[in-house]
Amino acid sequence: MKYDTMPSLCEAHAKYFKVGTCLNSRDFVAHDSILKKHFNCITDEGMMKWEPTEPEDGVFTWEEADKIAGYAKANGMALRAHAPLWHIQTAEWTHLDADGKPASRELLIERIERHTKAFCERYADQFFCWDVVNEVIDDDPDGGLLRKTKWLEGIGDDYIDIAYTLARKYAPNAQLFYNDYNEYDPIKRDKIVRLLRGMQERGIPLDGFGMQSHINVHEFDIGEYKRTIETYAALGLRIHITELDVSPYSARERMLPAYPYTDELIERQATIYRQVFAAAREYSDVIDDVTTWGIADDINWLDGWLRPGRAHYPLLFYYDHTPKFFTRQIVEDAICGK
Ligand code: GLA
Repeated sequence: MKYDTMPSLCEAHAKYFKVGTCLNSRDFVAHDSILKKHFNCITDEGMMKWEPTEPEDGVFTWEEADKIAGYAKANGMALRAHAPLWHIQTAEWTHLDADGKPASRELLIERIERHTKAFCERYADQFFCWDVVNEVIDDDPDGGLLRKTKWLEGIGDDYIDIAYTLARKYAPNAQLFYNDYNEYDPIKRDKIVRLLRGMQERGIPLDGFGMQSHINVHEFDIGEYKRTIETYAALGLRIHITELDVSPYSARERMLPAYPYTDELIERQATIYRQVFAAAREYSDVIDDVTTWGIADDINWLDGWLRPGRAHYPLLFYYDHTPKFFTRQIVEDAICGK
């Protein structure tokens, strides 16, 4: 932190929105001083999901989730709860009955209720917002609306409505969000709008949409991104940018063993980061939070994803924890009201 003389990212944005980051139990040891200086909102990266909090039927384990919530509380940071209903990080048992057969609709709904209740009894007085359901849209442009998940198979189309209704019952004061990626792709965006509008028409409690914003520099158009903000805002929803990172590499380049982080790529990354923050400030009447998916490049989800060990540099701080030059520019833009 001795190299970080810039003003605080979240203080510079205080009049616009919260500035958040995701956290796992490694980050707050490694990144403690950056966190405390620059971020005022925390999303759990994975420890509040279903599998780590209920690894066995009715057995709840909160140790890791408690660390995240405890860190946020101790440092006066807001907490976003994240993604109990997801097609990943849900243990095998969740979808099976005692005989190892697919669980019935009734049993699955009972389990969602028991899990929601237990989670809320522990954290609902702390989190202000909750991504109840994550990534349920079918990515195939020619496919149907919903991803074929085990929840869909076992309960039917209304499992999402059920999850939100139970979330409202047990966390009546939290804002309930739906969260998804490639949310600015026009075809996927239309599907997300169909899902959200349908929920609204059926009277399902929904307060906001989380634009994940996992961006790569080769496929980003700020005009489309702004249209996207307007599209979701037109549904009357609050908006959070929930998982922002900007990879310098295309999907193909990410598979290669190594790829240079050239000045040209850094410049493109800088432009996009500044554009996204500027757009968020421009639409701050509907945007309440901008969360980056990680803090410094030494811990980021992309490095362990497609090709373990391969570096991706998608965040606002370098490996050695110094701020990137554009992080300082983002703050200057905010202070100058650009
Ligand atoms: C998705 C999920 C997040 C997280 C990332 C990878 O975007 O929404 O919770 O698991 O993948 O870090």
